[in-house]
Amino acid sequence: MTFGGLDREAVEALESPLARVVELHEEVTSTQEVARGLAREGRERTPHGTLVVGGVQTGGRGRLGRAWGSPRGGLWMSLVLRPRIRAEEASRVTPTAAVGVAKALWELGVEARIKWPNDLLVEPGGRKVCGILAESSIENLPVASKRAASEGLEDRRLDFVVLGIGLNANLDPADLGLPEHEATTLRSELGRDVDPLDLLGTLLSRLDAELHRLKDFEAVLDDWRALDCTLGRPVKVQSFGETLEGRATDLSPEGALVLALPGGRKVELYEGEVEHLRRET
Ligand code: BTN
Repeated sequence: MTFGGLDREAVEALESPLARVVELHEEVTSTQEVARGLAREGRERTPHGTLVVGGVQTGGRGRLGRAWGSPRGGLWMSLVLRPRIRAEEASRVTPTAAVGVAKALWELGVEARIKWPNDLLVEPGGRKVCGILAESSIENLPVASKRAASEGLEDRRLDFVVLGIGLNANLDPADLGLPEHEATTLRSELGRDVDPLDLLGTLLSRLDAELHRLKDFEAVLDDWRALDCTLGRPVKVQSFGETLEGRATDLSPEGALVLALPGGRKVELYEGEVEHLRRET
């Protein structure tokens, strides 16, 4: 059984532009791999808005090559997107999706905040409820989306983006095998299970609305800033083998994290693992 017993007809009846083609699997290695395989079959078979959901993932992946524990009860899904944006704009997808997921969670009663670049956390303690993984393919050449801008791919066409969302939904933090201070779930935040179709419908509708604003990215970033929990904080960032400490001051116009280093120099980071340090008292 896939997530919460979702059935394909019910998902199709949502009439979401992000669920034009729906694949529900009881078990997959990774919805990300399934969706990428489908995307490569071309836009006729796999249009913008192809949704893959897995009940369990045996090889779920997170960012930076990490394993993503995906037991039953979580919403593990990937979307094939074919946004009409330039390759250099592919890095907009993660922050845009983060805003969409955050708004969906607020609508469901969970006050999640975005930790740059792709985590949805719940206070107190900043426990992770959701992770986002956007992987782009530019003219059949898979590249990490953030690299596009720096490699002069401005004129290259963005083929597709596989947007993976891992949402700890109807399960207990202990089921994830993670320390309780690191992870939370919708069940533990709300004290009840969420209706799977309601959750999926809310998520798709919020994501679709945000993805329509990819061209109006400044507006997305304003919402991002309103939902964020990283800016203004002292942080430690691991980025491309380097460790940097400083204060997260803002996002750049393309969604890079602007870090003010001691001494005043500012750097823009497109990739990295952020640790929130304690605020000075
Ligand atoms: C992260 O926080 O590092 C991103 C986690 C993304 C996990 C989702 S679950 C659905 C999709 N399939 C995967 O293998 N990964 C993503």
